[in-house]
Amino acid sequence: MRLLFIGDIVGAIGRDMLETYLPQLKSQYRPNVTIVNGENAAHGRGITEKIYKSMMTQGVDMVTLGNHTYGQREVYDLLDQDIKMIRPANYPAEAPGVGMKMVRFNQDKLAVINLQGRAFMPAIDCPFKKADELIAEARKETPYIFVDFHAETTSEKGAMGYYLDGRVSAVVGTHTHIQTADERVLPGGTGFITDVGMTGHYDGILGINKDEVIHRFLTALPVKHVLHDTGRGMLSGVFIELDKTGRTKKIERILINDDHPFIGH
Ligand SMILES: [Fe+2]
Ligand SMILES: [Fe+2]
Repeated sequence: MRLLFIGDIVGAIGRDMLETYLPQLKSQYRPNVTIVNGENAAHGRGITEKIYKSMMTQGVDMVTLGNHTYGQREVYDLLDQDIKMIRPANYPAEAPGVGMKMVRFNQDKLAVINLQGRAFMPAIDCPFKKADELIAEARKETPYIFVDFHAETTSEKGAMGYYLDGRVSAVVGTHTHIQTADERVLPGGTGFITDVGMTGHYDGILGINKDEVIHRFLTALPVKHVLHDTGRGMLSGVFIELDKTGRTKKIERILINDDHPFIGH
């Protein structure tokens, strides 16, 4: 089973990068399932119905989200519908959307789980206990389980990787927007990377225009985040190959930008 995951799409440049490179990535990696984190797709804050639909027409099979899930009110209703988009599972049950859905491929299914960390992030339910609950449910249907763990700290993500090792196919981190070079297969067979990185403006800071971010550090004043619609883009992702038991055989980092103008590491 072959799986392609693209990290946080940030704004118009991120959407353009996805549109430009997804066909190439698909022909190179031939994934059975393609998953995209779309939490920053709408100008950095959440996702709109139009953007979601455009991702679907590009051949994305599931969209995961994060702490910006509720950035656009228009998707609240959409999240409760039968769509291919999930939000972190450990938000309160009252929050729109669900945190696990199945993607069908060939005769099989992949369970896609989205969780969010709590270190330096909003105080929501325990992602570890929520993972236990969802994995028990998923395993009744399939050995293929993918987790997007949207979290700030490397330690919380490492802890989740080892906590779920041998119980899920892969745990990939998102949210920091910086790709880490620690992709590997954990001893129990779970593919892991601390953070996949983002897809967006290469010359910004985490996808945001750098001038406002620097101003904020210099003055300690609240500054509105600005996103450029044009400029150099970058794309970050991972390719993961699973065996028939759902274990990771191979995990490969993908980074495309003007300094790394190639695919695959
Ligand atoms: Fe993000
Ligand atoms: Fe985030």
